[in-house]
Amino acid sequence: MNEQDCVITSAPGKMIVLGEHSVVYGKPAVALAIDRRFYCRVQKSQDFIVNGHRAIAGSHPHIRSIIHDNKVGNISVNAVTDIPASSGLGSSAALSSSISLAIRKLFNKEIDEEEIARDAFNAEWFAQGRASPIDTSTCTHGKGIAINNPEGMGRPLWEINKGENTWKVTDIDVPKMTFVVGYTGIHAPTGPIVEKVRKFKERNGFASDIIDEIGLITLLGMNAIRRGDKEDLGDIMTRNHKLLSILGVSCNELNKLVNAVLPHSFGAKLTGSGGGGSMIALTDEPDAVCEAIRLHGGIPMVVHTETEGVRVEETAPRTGAFPLPL
Ligand code: PMV
Repeated sequence: MNEQDCVITSAPGKMIVLGEHSVVYGKPAVALAIDRRFYCRVQKSQDFIVNGHRAIAGSHPHIRSIIHDNKVGNISVNAVTDIPASSGLGSSAALSSSISLAIRKLFNKEIDEEEIARDAFNAEWFAQGRASPIDTSTCTHGKGIAINNPEGMGRPLWEINKGENTWKVTDIDVPKMTFVVGYTGIHAPTGPIVEKVRKFKERNGFASDIIDEIGLITLLGMNAIRRGDKEDLGDIMTRNHKLLSILGVSCNELNKLVNAVLPHSFGAKLTGSGGGGSMIALTDEPDAVCEAIRLHGGIPMVVHTETEGVRVEETAPRTGAFPLPL
């Protein structure tokens, strides 16, 4: 086969350190790319094929959105990943970024990080309903991303507008820190939880106050990151978890894991949409945190940050550890 006919790409997963849910309403947030990736091998094709099967109508909305936006023909996708689906670790955003890069390369279109981030954001919006660009910007750019942070902090990347919200995306320096993820094993799709928060906010002014407060403490957390102050950042993460619980997006399993790791952590919180999925802990005792997560029924993963964003690959792993978020 001609090498132009097949492209392999990958993009990292992510963890939101502060500000999920409130970022949907234009408040600040911080996320880091993690060293778990989503790989896609993409070819031109007569039919729309995913992992060897013809896609049924309405399935694979992320991929469909990117094909549609780029006005290209059908493709065959083989995808593998070690990011659990619907776990709060950005599997669908990583899928969307890697598909956008692959399609752009395969069909000789402009390859530009900002355009890939926009394709991926539009795909999330199409598939999930209301969304912010935090996941898709992080999985595209990699490293550390802040949204709507104060002037002078970070390097501006791009700005995304939708309805009444504006998200200014910047690249930020993040000092070396160790995070442990605790996956509950509970599959928790993002769309319904984002919708639950929207309804709560519509019915109850108190929900808007919580969202504002998450925005305020996220700004304090950004400052702590800039100073490399793990104690302060950890404390703010734990406060963020409590506010997310009040907002109704935590669950018993997440609360149990957060409480179990606190004696060995600077702080801990759910990450991503919640309702299941994952929590993260900032710690200098990763082994003790992993053990506490295991003892309380979770699956621990030590993650490394400073990870590269979406890129072209020579090869892809043959199998992934988890089913696809398709
Ligand atoms: O659970 P995830 O990885 O899809 O993260 C969702 C983050 C939210 O703030 C809840 C939604 C969004 O689009 O920002």
